[in-house]
Amino acid sequence: MTSKEIRIVYNEYESIDQLSPGDRELAQAAIEATKSSYAPYSHFNVGAAVRLDNDKIIKGSNQENAAYPSGLCAERTAMFYASSNYPENAMTGIAIAASQNGILCDNPATPCGSCRQVMAQYQTKGGQPMEILLVGGKKIWKFGRVDDLLPLIFDSI
Ligand code: THU
Repeated sequence: MTSKEIRIVYNEYESIDQLSPGDRELAQAAIEATKSSYAPYSHFNVGAAVRLDNDKIIKGSNQENAAYPSGLCAERTAMFYASSNYPENAMTGIAIAASQNGILCDNPATPCGSCRQVMAQYQTKGGQPMEILLVGGKKIWKFGRVDDLLPLIFDSI
């Protein structure tokens, strides 16, 4: 028997002012996207912004439904739009933010498992790392690729 260790390294920033100009733009787009969230049930407004390899930014937000499972998270709304409309462009980054009552949540917004799986697939499709920015009002976390949030990714079929 051998014990193995999976190590994840990520960067923490205290504010979006510390980000590179490109990352700041993506983080701001995610914050902006929270405003289009339709969340009459949870009142938890999530915004996502996907950066394409042509530097275009695609925004999405969570869209809820009275039939709860019919709703969709912000990240998948943005990624499905991006892949539907720009199928030839790799997604090189995604930023996620959440707000409640119009105020950005202090802690970074962390994506659900289904969104991580979808990120993994599009990272593979794009053939290059998809960076992830989890944006909070008090701190921001940056991960270099989807594997950091979903170790031992399933993408083998
Ligand atoms: N939500 C997202 O948009 N992204 C996530 O990664 C987690 C959760 C949404 C779904 C639902 O509209 C609300 O947040 C509360 O769960």
